[in-house]
Formats: sequence, structure tokens, C-alpha cells
Amino acid sequence: MRPIERLFEREGLPRFALPAALAKSYGGDFGLARPLLYANFVSSADGVVALPGLGESGGVVSGNSEPDRFVMGLLRAVADAVLIGAGTFRAAAGALWHPESAFPAARELFVELREQLGLRPHPLLVVVTASGNIDPAQPALRDCLIVTTAQGEARLRAKVPIGTKLPSDPSIAALDAQRFECRVLLDLLHDRKLQVVLTEGGPSLVGQLLDAGLLDELFITTSPRLFGRRPSDGRKSLVEGVDLGGLPLDLLSVRRHDSHLFLRYALGNA
Ligand SMILES: NC(=O)c1ccc[n+]([C@@H]2O[C@H](COP(=O)([O-])OP(=O)(O)OC[C@H]3O[C@@H](n4cnc5c(N)ncnc54)[C@H](OP(=O)(O)O)[C@@H]3O)[C@@H](O)[C@H]2O)c1
Repeated sequence: MRPIERLFEREGLPRFALPAALAKSYGGDFGLARPLLYANFVSSADGVVALPGLGESGGVVSGNSEPDRFVMGLLRAVADAVLIGAGTFRAAAGALWHPESAFPAARELFVELREQLGLRPHPLLVVVTASGNIDPAQPALRDCLIVTTAQGEARLRAKVPIGTKLPSDPSIAALDAQRFECRVLLDLLHDRKLQVVLTEGGPSLVGQLLDAGLLDELFITTSPRLFGRRPSDGRKSLVEGVDLGGLPLDLLSVRRHDSHLFLRYALGNA
């Protein structure tokens, strides 16, 4: 992959001293504060991030962009945990949310970076589901924390086919509410020493995190594509289900690869 080009970067951002080949591809060094909750999305130029019925939307929206997959891998590679909503989980059967599943060519560099940062081999996948309506046979659940409700846990256990095992009990946390507050969710992750948390959405979950003032940084790839929308077609923009009233963002960096733009913003609460 040709390196991503850095067009602008705020001075004084944290630095990890990335392995040289990663820094070259990313167009410079990269780092994150600790603790941090950060989101990564790819959006079309007209603001579409989710296209129902097409499986995992990100690849379609990005046009299977190699640099987008590289950035996705890098952002996963520095995370303690990757947090997703059940809608995103259900749309991506077979996915693992590992750094190298996004960008296999950098597998060894991602391993080196995680060792350097003292992180577990892979970020822990955290799936939130009120309903418990997720497929317990998905391979991603082998190393996963499912945060659900008592009802969701019961439904999940009832769905386990004979002969298959659910993840061990400590990997399911049942919260005492129909739909839990994001603050409670984040406290639970912090209690489990998951401090640097990447959320890959989707729009419904990230909307709640933004609405609760919990998101610190937002990475958006703007893909040079237009999708359009029709009323009730189910297509979603970055944030769904909340009114954020013009929440301001603070630009931290801009990168470019051909016509793809890689934007990094801080939220006011950062
Ligand atoms: N372009 C991109 O970068 C990108 C990134 C991520 C996702 N996507 C796309 O976005 C779509 C999915 O997004 P989405 O907005 O429909 O769904 P989502 O945010 O991924 O997940 C929503 C689900 O998460 C659970 N949930 C969320 N908040 C909860 C709470 N407070 N308490 C309990 N459970 C909670 C619920 O699961 P239950 O229904 O099980 O109760 C809810 O239905 C997919 O098409 C995906 O491919 C695109």
C-alpha cells in the first residue's frame, strides 16, 4: 500500500513510537491518551454509513479501500477492547474484529505494537445486546464479553445448540435494566481494566455514547462515494436515534489517500 499522506496534525498529540513500517504507512506516528473511548467509522461523502441487507456495510461504503482497512487495523491494534452493538455484530457474520482481520499484511507489526504497549494478544470484543438475539455459534464469541440483560442472557442460553458451548460465564455480564445506560456500560469495562476502548458502532450505539458525553475521539474516513437515501430505506448516517443539537468537534488530524480522507476529531469532553 502506498503511504497515507498527512495533511494536517494538531501539535502535542500522544505518540506511541509505532514500528517504523506502520508509521510510514500511516503518514507519521500515532498515539492515544489512556483512558479513552474512541469511535471509527467510514462514511460516504453524502453521510451514509449503513446499508441494510448488504451484510457488513463498511466495506461497501469504503469501496473496499485498502488504506481504510489499514487505519481500521491500526485503531484496533492499540485498543484494550472493541465495543459494538448487536446490530453491527449481526450484520457481519464470521467477523472477528481483530487488527489483522482488517489488514492481514500488517499482522506481525500489529503483534509487535501490542507487545510494545503491553496489551493482550487481541483486543477483547464487547457486544451489547438487550435482546440476547445473537448467534452463539459465531467465532467472535470465543473471546468476547457479552453485555446484556437478564432476559437477554436467558434467551442467549436457550439458543445454544446441543453440543455447542457458550463463552464461559465470566464472559457474559447481565445488567439490571431493559436497556442499560452507556455510563454503566463504560464503568463495567473500566472495572475490568478495559481502559482504551474502540467502538466500531453502529450508529445506534455511537449515538447513545455521544448523547451521554462519553465519546472522546471520532475517526471518520470520508469515502469518495455517493449513495443517496429514500424515505424509510433503512440507510443510516453516523448517528441515529438521538438529537445532538449541533455538538461541536475539534479537528485533530487530516490524512489523505487518493480521494479518501481520514479525519480525526476530539469531542468537547476530551
Ligand atoms: N460504515 C461503518 O463504519 C459502520 C460501522 C459500524 C456499523 N455499520 C453498520 O451499521 C449497521 C448496524 O448499526 P445499528 O445502528 O443498526 O446497530 P448497532 O448500533 O450496531 O446495534 C444496536 C443494537 O445494540 C444493542 N444496544 C444498543 N444500545 C443498547 C443499550 N443501551 N442497551 C442494551 N442494548 C443496546 C441492541 O441490541 P438488541 O437488538 O440485540 O437488543 C440494539 O438493537 C450495520 O449495517 C453495520 O454494517 C457501519
